[in-house]
Parts: sequence; structure tokens; C-alpha cells
Amino acid sequence: TKRYSITVLPGDGIGPETISVAKDVLKLIGSLEGIEFGFQEMPMGGSALDLTGVPLPDETLSAAKQSDAVLLGAIGGYKWDNNPKHLKPETGLLQLREGLKVFANLRPATVLPQLVDSSTLKKEVAEGVDLMVVRELTGGIYFGKPRGIGTNENGEEIGFNTEVYASYEIDRIARVGFETAWKRNKKLCSVDKANVLEASMFWRNRVTAIASEYPDVELSHMYVDNAAMQLVRNPKQFDTILTNNIFGDILSDEASMITGSIGMLPSASLGASGPGLFEPIHGSAPDIAGQDKANPLATILSVAMLLKYGLGEENAAKRIENAVLDTLDKGFRTGDIYSAGNHIQKLVGCKEMGEEVLKSVEGQV
Ligand code: NAD
Ligand code: IPM
Ligand code: MN
Repeated sequence: TKRYSITVLPGDGIGPETISVAKDVLKLIGSLEGIEFGFQEMPMGGSALDLTGVPLPDETLSAAKQSDAVLLGAIGGYKWDNNPKHLKPETGLLQLREGLKVFANLRPATVLPQLVDSSTLKKEVAEGVDLMVVRELTGGIYFGKPRGIGTNENGEEIGFNTEVYASYEIDRIARVGFETAWKRNKKLCSVDKANVLEASMFWRNRVTAIASEYPDVELSHMYVDNAAMQLVRNPKQFDTILTNNIFGDILSDEASMITGSIGMLPSASLGASGPGLFEPIHGSAPDIAGQDKANPLATILSVAMLLKYGLGEENAAKRIENAVLDTLDKGFRTGDIYSAGNHIQKLVGCKEMGEEVLKSVEGQV
């Protein structure tokens, strides 16, 4: 039998709730597919701060580096919001991404036929949307220097960050973008702010240069403000979107709502080698944490991405995706994707949704 070691980082808020369910799904898939998973659960984020004083303990990072894949719930919460920067849960997440060198973040947004009514967009606009955001994850304004809070030449207090990309950082994420598009509809839209920002002008030049390696892929460019508008005007015009760290963060949350809920969207973060990091795109949702209300499907679908992109176990990944569709077919809905008035729907909590997905996995031949 095949054996994989998985580092599991439940994190904070709804993280532990959705992770507990997703881990059960992974265990069941393993037993059905003849794969053995060894789980190592480690502290991360706010819960690691409370336990060890830092948001990413050395032991957590080294366990993650030594495993075959890393599964993360979510981190953050009110309790730590006013901590100094190096003691924020979010800083731990950035250190983890940097430490694993996972520069390519794939965030698919697919409108499932079962959830067309859950979208805030009209049926004819949302129906059939299937796009992929390729977000650069270890550079840009999140990491650029100089950064800080200080004083300017007039003695006034200032906060500042720097958007900076080296050519190698753009080239490697552009190649991931072109390759992703090539496997899909062969349309790549690079999103930037090249009408204003030098970092974006340079981004556009590099992406255009790399395009010559992929003559079969049709490249277009769009300014980010227009892209934000086009996403809700006519999202079906997009196939693969290539963008920087911060624009990708914002546009993927926007894209999630087309699909019905941020509680549906998974992600895969990959580097040139080493374990990938798999996490839902949503956060710790402190407003609903501890109430068994969270939608676990984004984390369950992140497990499917872990199997597919992290371990090359495409069959197992497909089984999970099919089980999610089956569960939705049966009408099970957490609050975020529940549309009142539809009588076939059954409102369930996080745990029950997880149990239904397990049943659907088992029900498959
Ligand atoms: P959020 O994504 O946590 O929540 C935004 C809204 O979406 C909330 O109303 C929440 O209830 C809802 N929501 C999110 N996930 C859901 C799910 N699975 N099911 C049902 N509803 C869901 O974003 P926020 O409120 O801006 O941030 C909360 C905390 O999470 C902050 O500390 C932030 O830094 C952190 N955060 C962490 C990650 C991560 O761990 N990758 C991502 C985003 C935000
Ligand atoms: C995400 C989150 C993170 C980000 C934060 C929590 C650091 O919003 O994963 O989308 O901005 O990348
Ligand atoms: Mn985000």
C-alpha cells in the first residue's frame, strides 16, 4: 500500500471544525483506495501563539517541510488582531507559505449546477462559470521591502509597503499561468495595474515575453479595476486569470460569491518542489466559529486538490468531488448556500454536512 504523511494545521475559528470533517473524508478515501495516511497535527496561527508564543513554531514548519502535503484550516481572530506584526496569526501563514516556497496559488471558482440559485448573480450570468485564478503567493506587496510604520522627513507618522517583483518571480508564475491555461481553455488573462504602477508595467512586459513559449495560449491583459467589474458583469469571459499576490487575494474572494459562497472555494499552493499547501480560500470566520455553522466543502474540496495536485492521486480526488456533488444533489446545504423557498433543501451544520459527504463517498461504486 501507498503511504503518505500529511501535516494537518487546524488553526483557529472554524478551522478546527472544517478540518475535523475533511480529515475524516481523507481517512475514508484512503481506506477505500488502499492508501495509508499518517497525520501529524501541529499548532499554527492564534492557537500556536497561545500555546508557544509564536504563530508558526519551528516544529510546525519543519514537520510541514518533511511531509508529503500540508492541509490547513484557517487562522486568525479578534483576540490577536491588535498584536504586533510578528505576533499575528497572519504573519505565521505568510511565513509558512514562504518557508514552503509555494509561490503558485491555484484558486478555482466553479459554479456548480446545484448552486446556481445560491449565487448573488442572475442565473444566466452565473450558470456555467468555470475559472481559475493563478495567484502569485510569495512576493509582491505582502513581502516587499521597505515596509513599516515610521516617520517621514516632515516628522509625520507614516505606514508604508512596497510592491516589488523580480523577473524570476514573474517568469515562474507566468509559466504556471500559461500551463494552467493550456490544460484548460487556452485563454490566459493577466490582471495588473500597468497604467499606474511600475511593478505592473514590468509584470506585463515579462508575461508578454514568456507568452512566446506558449504560442497555443491566447494572452490578454486587463487592468484590475476593470477585471473586478467584468467578473460580476460577465464572468464567463474568463478562463484562467494570472495575477499578483494582492490582486489575486481580492479577486478570488469576489469570484467565490459568483459560485454561491466563499465556503465553497478550495486552493492549492505549489512550489517548484517539496510539499504543497492546501487550504480553503476563506478565513477563520470568527462570527460563526464554534456554532457548527461553517460550510466544510471548501476544506473538503481542498483535500481533493491535495490528492490531485499534491499526491497525483487523481482517482481519489475525483471520488471526493463526486461525493460533494452527490451531497448537494440530495439537497444538503449549510446556511451560507441555503436558498430559502427551495423545498428540496435541508439546512445542516458543519458536522452533518461532513457525515453526508462520507455517506456519498461510501455510496459510490
Ligand atoms: P472570513 O473568510 O473568515 O469570513 C468572511 C465572511 O464569510 C464571514 O461572514 C464568515 O462567516 C463567512 N464565511 C467564511 N468561511 C465560511 C464558511 N466556510 N462557511 C460559512 N461562512 C463562511 O474573512 P474575515 O472575516 O475577513 O477574516 C476573519 C479572520 O480570518 C481574520 O483574522 C483574517 O485575517 C483571517 N483570514 C485567514 C485566512 C486563512 O487562514 N487562509 C484567509 C482569510 C482571512
Ligand atoms: C488568504 C488570506 C491571507 C492572504 C491572509 C490571512 C494572510 O486572506 O489566504 O486569502 O491575504 O493571503
Ligand atoms: Mn484572502
